[in-house]
Amino acid sequence: MSVQDFDAWLATRCAHVEQALADSLPADAPAGLCDVMRYAVLGEGKRLRPLLVLATAEALGGLPDAALRAACAVEIIHAYSLVHDDLPCMDDDVLRRGQATAHVKFGEARALLAGDALQALAFELLTPAEAGGVPAAMQAGLCRLLAQAAGAAGMAGGQAIDLASVGRRLDVTQLRHMHQLKTGALLLGSVRLGRACALQPVSAPVWQALDNYGTAIGLAYQVVDDILDATVASEQLGKTAGKDAAQDKPTYVSLLGLAEARALAQRLRDQALQALDEGGINRESGHLHALADRLIHRNN
Ligand code: IPE
Ligand code: IPE
Ligand code: MG
Ligand code: MG
Ligand code: MG
Repeated sequence: MSVQDFDAWLATRCAHVEQALADSLPADAPAGLCDVMRYAVLGEGKRLRPLLVLATAEALGGLPDAALRAACAVEIIHAYSLVHDDLPCMDDDVLRRGQATAHVKFGEARALLAGDALQALAFELLTPAEAGGVPAAMQAGLCRLLAQAAGAAGMAGGQAIDLASVGRRLDVTQLRHMHQLKTGALLLGSVRLGRACALQPVSAPVWQALDNYGTAIGLAYQVVDDILDATVASEQLGKTAGKDAAQDKPTYVSLLGLAEARALAQRLRDQALQALDEGGINRESGHLHALADRLIHRNN
């Protein structure tokens, strides 16, 4: 697949996701809560999690309506996690996606509540009143996967480790565990959501290969986030650069240094592609391969 073909695929899928997100968010909610929710979700996000859901579902011939719902649901959970991550009681950040963070613009209480409401909305989206042909068992499965990825054994648990680790030196195993939960879980979860949209049973080797792929890119994603935090200016990142060192957070850069962190990201990218090849997945379209490359070789 050429770069142009992949870029065209990205552009159409991003447009679908943007439209579906805009349609899914409430236009009206008490005390202007919908304004905070829309602000948090509809900013300049890269939409990588939705793209992973869609690419995985497409590789397996999944149900398009279920995949688009799952894509929006995971992005909405991600947006809520960013709003809470930026709160003064967490990373205390003022810049996100090139704009003032939600609590700076709307106040802490409304930012907190918008996060709560977004979390609930994600699960509502997965269980529509008009099922639109998405089988009830598939809806339930998608809810379970998203809950696992977002909860105590996933993103929220990882964030708890992150905050408990400020000023501490973690070893490589502890750092990997933290990254796998706080960031990896929603990325692996995105691949799993896409897989759960398949209409035919997924063979054990393909199932395992997708888990291996999702695990590798999930960890790589936060390794690269740590590298970008230490190397790129705030204007390009759209969020405050240099936060990790300023807040004394353990990261792959602080533990391994830049060169080794970069080498690790590359190794994880190779592992992800190897997993796809071992599972014989997506050879024709190559979208999952190309996405792994974009995730690792990004500059914001
Ligand atoms: C930022 O995620 C937070 C992490 C989990 C590393 P993204 O880099 O995907 O942020 P957006 O969605 O593009 O703003
Ligand atoms: C991951 O970590 C954040 C979430 C799970 C939301 P960071 O705190 O490093 O994310 P950024 O750098 O603020 O986007
Ligand atoms: Mg954080
Ligand atoms: Mg942060
Ligand atoms: Mg970061």
